Amino acid sequence: MKIVVVIPTYNERQNIGATIDGIEAIVSKIGPKHQLEILVIDDNSPDGTAELVKAKGQEFGNVKLLPNQEKQGLGAAYVKAFKYAMAKLGADAVFEYDADGSHQPQYLPGMINELDKGADVVVGSRYVPGGSMPDNWGINRKLISYFGNFIARSVLWAWQYKDMTSGFRVTKTEWLKQIDLDNLLSRQFAYKIHLYYALHRLGAKIVEFPIDFIDRSKGKSKFPRNNIIDSLRVVFTLRWRQNEKLFKVLLVGGLGSVVQLIFYNLFRLRMNLTWSQNLSIETAIISNFILNNIWTFKEKGWSLARFIKFNLSSFGSLIIQNIVLFGGVALLGQSIIIENILVTVGIILGAIWNYLMYTRVVWKTK
Ligand code: GDD
Ligand code: MN
Repeated sequence: MKIVVVIPTYNERQNIGATIDGIEAIVSKIGPKHQLEILVIDDNSPDGTAELVKAKGQEFGNVKLLPNQEKQGLGAAYVKAFKYAMAKLGADAVFEYDADGSHQPQYLPGMINELDKGADVVVGSRYVPGGSMPDNWGINRKLISYFGNFIARSVLWAWQYKDMTSGFRVTKTEWLKQIDLDNLLSRQFAYKIHLYYALHRLGAKIVEFPIDFIDRSKGKSKFPRNNIIDSLRVVFTLRWRQNEKLFKVLLVGGLGSVVQLIFYNLFRLRMNLTWSQNLSIETAIISNFILNNIWTFKEKGWSLARFIKFNLSSFGSLIIQNIVLFGGVALLGQSIIIENILVTVGIILGAIWNYLMYTRVVWKTK
């Protein structure tokens, strides 16, 4: 694998040299299967970080500088560097790595080993057993980190992950290529949460690897002052987008129910209960399928296989609706009003079943 360690820098002249040296010192431990390169993306730091990186590039053949004209935020820098690493360096995996000594090179071989064992993303985590926060971080910074993670994990329903804001990760680019990097919700530190969530939603295998995070000893932190608000915005926007689908599914289903009731009554003019019920259910299935495809799940495209899957997964709902209708008629007797009520109740119960099936089977994200 070609592995590119991306290091973003802004005024890290005091740190970047030692950081590069530290990584170079463990390259030999990574094994012959892999080739490691370092890509520093510097936002035109006034302290001359770039010159030092260029000098390191003379010293080591695998160190490259990617100059960025202006400082637009950590996320913006990473996106630019990821694209470069994928398009120009042929990276199979990219690390996110701080320049300031917080991330220790000793973890690189272990994290790469996790990739070899089948992980798609390996996150250096401070919150799994064996990992730790810096001792000298103030209580406020610790609380921000802890609660940031807590909120992200609960709002995004991603309790299985412990450290969603970690700045130390490696991702196989086959997954990164599936993500719309230009439209991450933040160009600052909070892009990390979006990226983590996007990888999770894609179904990437994410493994958290314990690290001791060491506080920087030189230079200043660039942790943005508005980071809390920015992170909350990202977390809640992501959640909202998830709810948007639910909302659309409900609307489509509501319309499908109206279609079904109309057709039920039309069919009933000429047919018996069984035929009217099941043909009208199929009209609703077709209506729902078309609308969900062109609206709710428009990013997924058309396929016959999906239509068949959709029908099969709606079978549970069909059974539920038939039980409600025939059971109800047996209990309450038969009249067109009772039938309409029973059809409606069946639709509602069936819809609950359907939603579970749609999101878990038919339009399931990989
Ligand atoms: N190019 C570029 N542009 N680099 C930047 C920018 C930017 O706008 N902002 C920060 N960096 C670089 C820094 O130079 C450093 O190498 C790295 O990104 C991390 O920045 P720090 O300022 O050291 O961040 P931190 O220590 O406060 O935050 C760390 O912990 C957070 C979790 O608590 C980082 O690892 C974060 O990514 C992480 O979320
Ligand atoms: Mn730092």
